[in-house]
Amino acid sequence: MSIWLPIRLERGLLPKQVLYFLRFKAFQGAENLKGFFYWRFFGSRKGRALPVCGRCALMKKRERTIWHDDDSFWQTFQFEMFNTEKLEAAPQEVDQLVELLDLQPGARVLDLCCGIGRHSLELARHKFEVTGFDRTASYLEQARTKAESENLEVDFVLGDARKFCALEEFDAVINMYTAFGYFEEPSDDKRVLLKAYASLKRGGKLLIELMSKEVLARIFQPRDWHERDGRIFLRETEVTQDWSWIKNRWILFEDGQQKEFTFGHRVYSAVELTGLLRRCGFADVEVFGNLEGAPYDHEAQRLVTVAVK
Ligand SMILES: C[S@@+](CC[C@H](N)C(=O)[O-])C[C@H]1O[C@@H](n2cnc3c(N)ncnc32)[C@H](O)[C@@H]1O
Repeated sequence: MSIWLPIRLERGLLPKQVLYFLRFKAFQGAENLKGFFYWRFFGSRKGRALPVCGRCALMKKRERTIWHDDDSFWQTFQFEMFNTEKLEAAPQEVDQLVELLDLQPGARVLDLCCGIGRHSLELARHKFEVTGFDRTASYLEQARTKAESENLEVDFVLGDARKFCALEEFDAVINMYTAFGYFEEPSDDKRVLLKAYASLKRGGKLLIELMSKEVLARIFQPRDWHERDGRIFLRETEVTQDWSWIKNRWILFEDGQQKEFTFGHRVYSAVELTGLLRRCGFADVEVFGNLEGAPYDHEAQRLVTVAVK
């Protein structure tokens, strides 16, 4: 508010508009405080949902459901996102990210958009203090069940990555497997990074691992399909908005039924993502071509950024 208010006054806004602006800012501030309060006293440990106020809940109901907020999307494609290959890859990925981040024994790690917790659980097996955060309740239920069966201490918390609050609690935040760039508004992506920044201790590190613009351009296939465990899965991919947005159409044939979802997400180049991280306050930002720390060059498999607070 301190930056924007004088600018707006200078431009000669009407008093009524100024009033609306102030009320909006006050509402935002109250929301942040409330979120922080719930995180500290209710969200943590018990792994409950972060409650929202009545007005927000009402507004939410009226909004159209966007794919990333649609449980049926995540449930339908769970078999593909967390297939055997992906589950088996998790232990090695965790070994690699522990080394890349130079995580010290007992470090506190936030797995942001943790899914069914394949990395959270593995990190807990390595005796790190882990919080897994995700918007999909059924994924977190599975993660909790697995943690219980192995007697692992992991805090699984339900919520929206744009709204979670934790202040300087973590040594590292990880965001794995293209779990970033889902929002139509670029400011929402920035909000997620600002939350990650706030939740890190000074010197803490944020690792993001995703499919980047450069890598996608190299391996791009407009259509592909495969069959796994009796399911046929077809994918159609389109590059739109001058290579800033990817439109996807995923079709699943299972038990004689067809399910279809169309959805889109932002695609980042290394320069775009590192620029955004710096604008969010991160000091050193390094870029790699995989979790082993390979260079981000023409052979890069993924874009991995490590940003230090
Ligand atoms: C591709 S999965 C990645 C899961 C996990 N990181 C992994 O590597 O197994 C993306 C995850 O992001 C979660 N997600 C999507 N939108 C979210 C949001 N706004 N806030 C929190 N989680 C979100 C989904 O529920 C899903 O679990």
